[in-house]
Amino acid sequence: MNKALVFLPCLLLLPGCATKTAPVPDATMAGRSGTKLGTLQRGHAVYLAQCGRCHEPILPADVSRDDWHVVVPGMSWNAGISEADEQALTAYILAAKK
Ligand code: HEC
Repeated sequence: MNKALVFLPCLLLLPGCATKTAPVPDATMAGRSGTKLGTLQRGHAVYLAQCGRCHEPILPADVSRDDWHVVVPGMSWNAGISEADEQALTAYILAAKK
């Protein structure tokens, strides 16, 4: 495919383009949220693998905490992920918001 076409949506969303990625879990995020780093990393991996499949990934920061509690179960059902993955994903999203 023509590379210019691939980058077009990106250009339209400027200036936020380069920063529009979900935060990568680290020890600081784990400490702040009281969630194990392994759980956050699992949730992040699920997020990257699943949450951009049907629409652009929606960033943790872009939805309120209360709304995420409603959205994640519905979207997890959409994505067909396991309950354990859903729990890790929820923990990751809420930790990434802080
Ligand atoms: C199988 C397709 C599919 C997958 C996979 C999917 N979504 Fe969605 N998502 C949708 C559709 C369709 C909508 C718009 C209609 C709706 O709100 O149900 C949507 C809407 C949303 C919204 C906006 C909801 C609102 O009410 O404004 C958020 C936030 C969201 N998705 C997050 C996620 C996250 C996080 C994941 C990863 C688990 C995910 N989505 C995976 C199809 C999907």
